[in-house]
Amino acid sequence: MVANRRNFIFRVSIVINIAVLLYAAMHLSSTSGPGVEWVPVSVDGSERSAELRYLNRDDLRNFSESKLVESSVRNLEESTSQKTPSTMPTTNKTASSTTSITELEKKHDTSSETDLVNDTLDIVDENALSEATLNRLRLLLACNERDFNPQYVQRAEFWVLKNYVRAEHGPLLCHETITYTTHAGYEFLDNVQPLVERWMAPISLAIHAPGADFTPTVNSIRYLRDCLGNDLVKQLVTFHLFFSNKHIPSKIPKPNQFLAEPYNCSVPPPFASTTISTYMKQKNLLYPVNVARNIARDSALTHFILPSDIELYPSPNLVPRFLNMIARNEKPLNTSTNPRVFPISIFEVDAKFQVPSTKTELQKMLAKKTAIPFHKYVCPDCHNIPQRQQWISAPETNQMGVFYVGKRRGSFVHWEPIFIGTHEDPHYDDRLSWEGKKDKMTQGYILCVRDYDFMILNNAFLTHKPGIKHYVKNPKRDAIVGKQNAYVNKVIMPELKKIFGTRSGCSL
Ligand SMILES: *[C@@H]1O[C@H](CO)[C@@H](O)[C@H](O)[C@H]1NC(C)=O
Ligand SMILES: *[C@@H]1O[C@H](CO)[C@@H](O)[C@H](O)[C@H]1NC(C)=O
Ligand SMILES: *[C@@H]1O[C@H](CO)[C@@H](O)[C@H](O)[C@H]1NC(C)=O
Ligand SMILES: *[C@@H]1O[C@H](CO)[C@@H](O)[C@H](O)[C@H]1NC(C)=O
Ligand SMILES: *[C@@H]1O[C@H](CO)[C@@H](O)[C@H](O)[C@H]1NC(C)=O
Repeated sequence: MVANRRNFIFRVSIVINIAVLLYAAMHLSSTSGPGVEWVPVSVDGSERSAELRYLNRDDLRNFSESKLVESSVRNLEESTSQKTPSTMPTTNKTASSTTSITELEKKHDTSSETDLVNDTLDIVDENALSEATLNRLRLLLACNERDFNPQYVQRAEFWVLKNYVRAEHGPLLCHETITYTTHAGYEFLDNVQPLVERWMAPISLAIHAPGADFTPTVNSIRYLRDCLGNDLVKQLVTFHLFFSNKHIPSKIPKPNQFLAEPYNCSVPPPFASTTISTYMKQKNLLYPVNVARNIARDSALTHFILPSDIELYPSPNLVPRFLNMIARNEKPLNTSTNPRVFPISIFEVDAKFQVPSTKTELQKMLAKKTAIPFHKYVCPDCHNIPQRQQWISAPETNQMGVFYVGKRRGSFVHWEPIFIGTHEDPHYDDRLSWEGKKDKMTQGYILCVRDYDFMILNNAFLTHKPGIKHYVKNPKRDAIVGKQNAYVNKVIMPELKKIFGTRSGCSL
């Protein structure tokens, strides 16, 4: 009872705190936001009962005398004063998983900062971020805020409408949450709703919209924002559109105009049609998967990012649990000095079943074979993962932690993990297409050469949209795969060796 009450007070304080921060941030930047604020904490452990809570601004004003507001304002001041070296921690390292925390600590010499890092955090609720946790994260990550302006960007042959339709969360502090960065053609946008409902935090989504695919893409975005019965997409999802300069859409509408008109929700969204024939398919274009990945990732406002595929739905509460783990900074986080990423285990579930909400639920499904490891029937060796069996049998624990620290070497030399990383990690090679496969291998090679630690998370997992995949032969695709392989071996590999060097045990 007492514990419950304490939890409740904690949650309320977090909700207020975050809302005040966002409110203040929106005011500073004079972005016109909606009358509500998003709250990136769910109310209890399960996704199904995760509840949306909105505070309107009048409520917020009433708290203005409280201590909470003072500390939030202090946070904001700290973040703005970051640019002035005199008030910065005495380190030049910025925003990096590459920086080990031990190194950072050594460089901090003022006693208040040391205390902050040394004190054990008393985390009452793993699914929420307390003020103490946020302060600790701010200090440990030493990250910089990133801008959120709409921009036209050129990326080789591609035009990018960066931040074309922005989430209404407004500017974010780089330490306060994690961005899921992903990509799609409009025909995959049915995944946005289940994804955002499980992630409950910012999503940066790059959409390939060449030629006549642009209009259905815009209509799909409008449907997702206006017609789902809640404001999650509006609050959390930022859309970037891009196309090749050889396939410029005939009309590029202004977001200000089309967002001002509510969408007619009785018209089904373009992505719901069962007979979609995209412009991309008609013109036989390849899907520039890595351009899309890089756009989504470069636009993310937070220090930590989870670059992933849109059909992979994360386990609930991953964001607060992960950030509490980082703030706690226990072994092996505080001892290893290598750069690091945090791979997340991936599973598929039978089409007739729901995506599991907890590891315990997942384990039951694995036992009944209604869930299987990812790509078991498509390419079992591609996803040969260190300690997989041990991970599957290990019981769920109360806190997020590192299950095992692996390397991309030996029998895992072709491992293509999906992981939480940062902007410091190597990019994907823009020249590789999805059809040509192995599109993430060049990044994997660089991670290996740089001796990254792969800190596999214990309770977190990704589940593919229900439906188990089987291998289907596709001669047309095989031809593209052959070409891309040859290109990687003849052109890209020699480049990588020159730029990043080699290390024994590393290969593509
Ligand atoms: C906030 O303060 C105003 C003015 O004092 C009051 O009318 C309003 O009911 C308060 N709102 C809440 C949620 O307390
Ligand atoms: C930070 O950078 C400056 C100039 O680039 C250098 O003189 C200084 O030693 C650096 N400080 C640390 C702590 O690395
Ligand atoms: C805090 O950390 C510093 C350096 O990391 C160490 O010298 C000091 O003894 C620690 N203090 C406590 C109370 O653990
Ligand atoms: C919305 O679309 C439906 C179905 O096409 C149509 O019957 C209805 O008149 C439309 N409503 C508005 C306000 O345009
Ligand atoms: C790392 O964290 C552990 C707790 O898991 C603690 O016992 C240890 O002292 C820490 N080591 C350093 C170098 O801070």
